[in-house]
Amino acid sequence: MTNRSDIPHHIGVIMDGNGRWAQSRGLPRIAGHQAGVEAARRVIKACVELHIQVLTLYVFSTENWKRPLGEVSFLMRLAEKYALEETDELHQNGVRVQLMGQRQKLPQTLLDNLDKIAAQTQNNKRLTLNLAINYSGRTEILNAAALIIQAHHKGEINIDDISPMDFTYFLYCPEVPDVDLIIRAGGEKRLSNFLLWRSVGAVFWSTPIYWPDFQTQDLSEAIKFYKDQNIQLKNETRIFGANHKQNA
Ligand code: IPE
Ligand code: IPE
Ligand code: MG
Repeated sequence: MTNRSDIPHHIGVIMDGNGRWAQSRGLPRIAGHQAGVEAARRVIKACVELHIQVLTLYVFSTENWKRPLGEVSFLMRLAEKYALEETDELHQNGVRVQLMGQRQKLPQTLLDNLDKIAAQTQNNKRLTLNLAINYSGRTEILNAAALIIQAHHKGEINIDDISPMDFTYFLYCPEVPDVDLIIRAGGEKRLSNFLLWRSVGAVFWSTPIYWPDFQTQDLSEAIKFYKDQNIQLKNETRIFGANHKQNA
């Protein structure tokens, strides 16, 4: 279920702290979101270089609709612009891009741009980049449950012997593996409804650094933390194994 090698296959990032970054500079919150795009670029590039297979960026949660209209519209336009302007570079770098989230409620221009970038990059193999926009872990699970009931009614599946693996098939982006490492910028130690189903064995690393200040070295530090956790886990398993033998 969980990848126990040294390098995480799937990294999820909660890109938090944009507003505080801007406020600490006397700037409007939207300036923080704008600056956050640069940090996302840095991390995507580093993930390609580090041979990470999957990166999921938490761009906009379903809870974020409650923010002031001006901030929400700015974020939607920023995502629209990003999808349009980054296509060529991401494609050249072998990045496959896709939306991970609920399509309903998202502006049509954003959906069109996301569909275009997904179509153009669909065969790329170096890195899969999931953009979690209008994402909620609970909604993802509820949505999967509703799809399963529909499939059951159509006689396509038997609801009585559905396994966790079968369930995964009904999530957004079903081919995406469990997340190995979740990074949170901005200092909070919360999941904020991110990747709930896929985070069963994930290592969680939180840094006080605001997202726009996040550097490649911070990513390396998070990966080192992930490795250390895995070494510790392997050692504990070994000790447990030895005791187990002794007592047997
Ligand atoms: C994260 O930064 C970006 C989004 C949620 C879109 P915030 O906007 O939450 O920044 P803080 O947490 O208020 O500093
Ligand atoms: C999490 O940040 C969501 C994103 C980064 C898109 P929030 O700022 O929205 O989360 P809370 O409010 O701290 O839980
Ligand atoms: Mg926040």
